[in-house]
Amino acid sequence: SVIRRSDYRPPDWLVPDIALDFDLDPARTRVRATLIVTRNGDHDRPLRLDGDGLIPLEVRIDGEAATPDQWHMEAGYLSVSLSGSARKVETLVELAPESNSKLMGLYASGGLLCTQCEAEGFRRITFFPDRPDILSRYDVTLRADKARFPILLSNGDPVEQGEGDAGQHWARWVDPFPKPCYLFALVAADLACNADSFVTMSGRDVQLGIWVREADLPRTGHAMQALKNSMAWDERVYGREYDLDVFNIVAVADFNFGAMENKGLNIFNSRYILADPETATDIDYDGVEGVVAHEYFHNWSGNRVTCRDWFQLSLKEGFTVFRDQNFSADMGSHAVKRIEDVRILRAAQFQEDSGPLAHPVRPESYMEISNFYTATIYNKGAELIRMIALMLGPERFRAGTDLYFDRHDGQAATCEDFVLAMEEGGEIDLSQFRRWYEQAGTPHVRATLDHDPMTRTVNLHLHQSLAPTPGQPDKAPMAIPLRVALFDPATGTHHGDELLMLTEPQQSFSFPDFATPPILSINRGFSAPVIIDTNRSQDDLAFLSAHDDDPFARYEAMQQLMVNILVGRIAGQPIDEAAVIAAIRQVITDPLLDPAFVAEAIRLPSEAYLGDQMAHVDPDAIHAAREALQQRIGAELEPDWRAIHARTRAAEFSISAAAKGARKLRNSALGYLVASGAMDGPAIAFVQFEQAHNMTERQAALAILANGDSAERVAALDIFYNRYGADALTLDKWFQTQAFAVHPDTVDLVEELGRHKDFTLANPNRVRALYGAFTGNQWAFHHISGKGYRLVADCILALDRLNPQTAARLVPPLGRWKRFDAARGALMRGELERILAQPGLSKDVTEQASKSLEYQ
Ligand code: ARG
Ligand code: ZN
Repeated sequence: SVIRRSDYRPPDWLVPDIALDFDLDPARTRVRATLIVTRNGDHDRPLRLDGDGLIPLEVRIDGEAATPDQWHMEAGYLSVSLSGSARKVETLVELAPESNSKLMGLYASGGLLCTQCEAEGFRRITFFPDRPDILSRYDVTLRADKARFPILLSNGDPVEQGEGDAGQHWARWVDPFPKPCYLFALVAADLACNADSFVTMSGRDVQLGIWVREADLPRTGHAMQALKNSMAWDERVYGREYDLDVFNIVAVADFNFGAMENKGLNIFNSRYILADPETATDIDYDGVEGVVAHEYFHNWSGNRVTCRDWFQLSLKEGFTVFRDQNFSADMGSHAVKRIEDVRILRAAQFQEDSGPLAHPVRPESYMEISNFYTATIYNKGAELIRMIALMLGPERFRAGTDLYFDRHDGQAATCEDFVLAMEEGGEIDLSQFRRWYEQAGTPHVRATLDHDPMTRTVNLHLHQSLAPTPGQPDKAPMAIPLRVALFDPATGTHHGDELLMLTEPQQSFSFPDFATPPILSINRGFSAPVIIDTNRSQDDLAFLSAHDDDPFARYEAMQQLMVNILVGRIAGQPIDEAAVIAAIRQVITDPLLDPAFVAEAIRLPSEAYLGDQMAHVDPDAIHAAREALQQRIGAELEPDWRAIHARTRAAEFSISAAAKGARKLRNSALGYLVASGAMDGPAIAFVQFEQAHNMTERQAALAILANGDSAERVAALDIFYNRYGADALTLDKWFQTQAFAVHPDTVDLVEELGRHKDFTLANPNRVRALYGAFTGNQWAFHHISGKGYRLVADCILALDRLNPQTAARLVPPLGRWKRFDAARGALMRGELERILAQPGLSKDVTEQASKSLEYQ
């Protein structure tokens, strides 16, 4: 059951046209599909139509009932024997959307009916060759009870509607753009619409609609603004215009991931649409903006040009993440956005790349494609595009993307097609660079600087290495673009930023005219997704944290200063903390710095990131060292934290970048103030919790209190629950905050919360809020009792029966056993074995658990 990239064959039959007719009902939906099929090439193979859990009630060929010798069922597909070159094949099936707990195909959520087809959900709706290189024109008729489902939406443009018998109504939608079936969508619902419009660059009027429950309408303004900004941005930056007369977004409460880019009808997890100051944090606001943009940008990078097969997934996902990252940077701060994106990459993708589930950006094989919607495909994929853009510069990069879109419009393309377009349009040779698509793992680069006073020359010696990953024991050298600057410590300036290409295992670069040794600033802007080791001293890092003019490099120097102190302390080799305290004092008192940047710069590395810096993760030692440093920073700078906290209190809420930055810094100051141990710390946090006029400050105060043992902790959690318990998205925060709390009782609390009356396995957001957050809480999840592992394994086993896709997402944290001590490792492996022993385990969880266990 392993699918390989090398097995790709063009389809035997094409489906240029499909008509779908839905009789919608939660308990019993009938789907009639009429496919025009054409033979592709010279062969006599039958037509194979994928079907998952479907029984054909009728099969017709050219209008006539098919005879038994013309079709038969096999495991997972319907086989139809056909002569001739073009035929009409019709099938009828019946579905029960209300009992579809996998949330793939057609399902019910909060009284509405909706679909999710990517990657292989369409085969749960009707018989069809479910592969992305079959592009069809869709003509869709939806019929449903008018009172229950007054709104009927599908892809493309609405062309006709009318009333039927017995309270029914119907609507017909036609999508003129041929598309793969994973982009099919329908919604039948009783929802309200935030309606708006957008005039495209060629002057076409597009009707925009965001559909939500009536009560949620006031929370859709931010998403609508983000949509209009995205449409304008794609025109300005990539020259890409929207192509239909309508663009609809529907928010649903039960959704396996963030959102889905169905042509003209995006379907969203409501957490990426709804936002208001009372219930959404600034991070939530940014999430809405970023995901709305991401799905909109897919209209070109994904829909107009789609993927030939699922091994090419990063073709659309990596590129689209790159596009949404740059959009968000343009809407806010480039510096802060880059820091946030790198933090996410390191937390999620670097971990993946160094463990049993490591895979290339273009994988070679999979068992279940859903398991490959990963940080590697998405975030590392985006870094690959970013490196290409850096090497080309803006004009040549744009020439490359223009060529790519023009050449492949209406096609199902490959990653190689993209690289070829970049080579031709951008005039560059990417032969060695292609290894980024082929080789898994995060490259390490060791950089050492030496200075020869006699020749006044500086030599930068670079050495790259890439550790083996599953299935790839030997690696070839990568092409690594590194932005570098050399600072003169006397003047605090550098002699220009240079882009070096590291292509050999070892390479040296010399720089003339240095009377004294400079200080190295390397991988500026995080120009390559690699791990850099340098021989820079704490003094060098302190210098860069004060003077580097590249904001990312400045942040990085601060982080490295802190990491060195923490790792030193854990190893029993304490390093003086004065440098880091001085560096923090300096950034918090520099009036010219953006407060959002300051908040990033002074943030302590997470416990998980510290674990990544160690040969073996010691969760208790990491926790103790980090708490101690946090307390020390808190206490040493206590008056500053008080002053910042007082000065950043805003009379009124605003979502402006300045107001967001002030809140971010305010919350960091509160964190340090409470960590200092000041007697009044919890009381100050509680006042912020109660008086905040926005969720960003309220939740931060709650999270800070949740880490401690004050009376305020209990009170705040109760108040929060009573106030927001009726709103699912906000109640998720209540679960999440407790699961994430750095507190010795967290593991017991999570067990209790798993039995809470408001906990449910049926809603993926709730599962992620409790168990997803918990697996990210290193100290609690890796509790030496093994209880954390057991709780998560129990959840995986229970959830697998309902929703294997979401269950499989919880497996990777258990797979990191090799990174821990023998006792924890054995406990983790024990849980993986227990999971694999469950009869009837899904393919999704089987793949993740078995790969996690096999890896030596
Ligand atoms: N294409 C969607 C997006 O990137 C996500 C689809 C996820 N599908 C899955 N099977 N995990 O926005
Ligand atoms: Zn996407």
